[in-house]
Amino acid sequence: MTYNLVVCYNTVVIYNRVVKDDDMPHLLHIDSSIQGERSVSRSLTARAAAAWLAAHPDGTVSYRDLGANPLPHLNSESGLARMVPPDQHTPAQAASWELSKEVVEEVLAADTILLGLPVYNFGAPSSVKSWVDHLVAPGLSVDHATMTGLLGGRDLLVLASRGGGYAPGTPREGWDHAEPWLPHALSLTALEPRFITAELTLANVNPQMAELKPLAAESLAAAERAIDAQWAPLAV
Ligand SMILES: Cc1cc2nc3c(=O)[nH]c(=O)nc-3n(C[C@H](O)[C@H](O)[C@H](O)COP(=O)(O)O)c2cc1C
Repeated sequence: MTYNLVVCYNTVVIYNRVVKDDDMPHLLHIDSSIQGERSVSRSLTARAAAAWLAAHPDGTVSYRDLGANPLPHLNSESGLARMVPPDQHTPAQAASWELSKEVVEEVLAADTILLGLPVYNFGAPSSVKSWVDHLVAPGLSVDHATMTGLLGGRDLLVLASRGGGYAPGTPREGWDHAEPWLPHALSLTALEPRFITAELTLANVNPQMAELKPLAAESLAAAERAIDAQWAPLAV
């Protein structure tokens, strides 16, 4: 077995896990919904953050709102920052690389990451795609020489919400391209997302889905119960 030991931004990398240089538990809380107060994923990430803090009273939290402040999309001026060596970056690439560093360092600092993931137009919000595009960066989140991920060993809990239902046997089975996409998109970094999902959320606002309200309520309640059980002390 080979040991992968490198120094990276004041942290030590062992295997594909970057060990933080302090023992304080740290939570990174990320929202991406554009729906403000009525957002279901925001209510779920807030519930999860409160549950995490209750279980980690000495913990610290940082927050990123991709819905309010999306990262710029990779474009033809900046996008190659992740392929061109930093000492050859153009000013636009250097600025984009700095953003990647910021995003990666936020994840490296965290033991637990909460990500709100709505479904928009059958996929993830473009702001989450852009966050992933900045996060997957050889030399920062992926070891350049071996292409092994450097973000493994963290808990990434995704609080997903979708207006419809895409379960097996439903008319649009398989049309949700947000949840199946994310593990693939993050695989190079070694982050492995877990999901808690509330579905049929549009039943509460779309009269044509009114008969699905009980199922929507059930789905939301199950998601909330799953969140509440995450860091609860084990009953003995
Ligand atoms: C721009 C937009 C596009 C949407 N597209 C879909 C869709 O393709 N499929 C779906 O099931 N729900 C869709 N919805 C409904 C959302 O998935 C639903 O409102 C969900 O609760 C989103 O999470 P949020 O409440 O945290 O924003 C869409 C909502 C918006 C605002």
